[in-house]
Amino acid sequence: MKIHRSADYEAMSRQAALLVAGQISARPDLVLGLATGSSPVGMYRQLTEWYRDGILDFSHVHSVNLDEYVGLSPDHPQSYRRFMQDNLFNHINIPVENTNIPNGMAEDLQAECDRYDKVISGFGRIDLQILGIGLDGHIGFNEPAGALSAGTHVVDLTESTIEANSRFFEEASQVPRRALTMGVGPILQARRIVLLASGRDKAQIIADAFLGPVTLQVPASLLQLHPHVDLFGDEAALALL
Ligand code: F6R
Repeated sequence: MKIHRSADYEAMSRQAALLVAGQISARPDLVLGLATGSSPVGMYRQLTEWYRDGILDFSHVHSVNLDEYVGLSPDHPQSYRRFMQDNLFNHINIPVENTNIPNGMAEDLQAECDRYDKVISGFGRIDLQILGIGLDGHIGFNEPAGALSAGTHVVDLTESTIEANSRFFEEASQVPRRALTMGVGPILQARRIVLLASGRDKAQIIADAFLGPVTLQVPASLLQLHPHVDLFGDEAALALL
């Protein structure tokens, strides 16, 4: 793992965006695994700026997002489809048909999981997977558990995740209890992984994930087994590394 230590969130976002931009420039048809949440927003903003400046072209990029809440329609303000449109896709030239996010409104959720796995396997491998990390060590919505699924699946969100994500909703009771998430299979098979972590509240879980044992109780600790992880963090998040 390579650690990229930045003074603050803005610097971290710029450093990570530089890596992503370099990968897209080297390989215009990159398959990009994307995350939502607050960690990648600054990076998306920077990538958008470079697109506006004519430095980046997303017209051949394909994207696969990690997850989506069950029961939120694509245009719901807190859906991850809406998040991606608002924070990235609406501001760059990626064709919407090149973007993939699980459908949390699917009537048959298992069929949707199977469909999503086919989309991912159709790409072969994800070239570059962007990740954040949950306070409980989740990646995507692969929550701590006795066993993890390799493929896309429906997950019951932990209380820790519901509480952490309630900041985006008016109240915690509005946070969906379930989500669809990519499994750990395609994440660990990605050619390269960028993990973003910012803020003091991430320091302990970052230390647990990268200095502690590899355990399913800290799903991000599996990243210790991956040969090409770039961890971008600000001083606060990396304080215990
Ligand atoms: C989001 C996702 C989650 C977040 C994680 C951290 O698509 O899969 O794993 O990356 O919950 O969220 P933030 O960045 O908001 O702290």
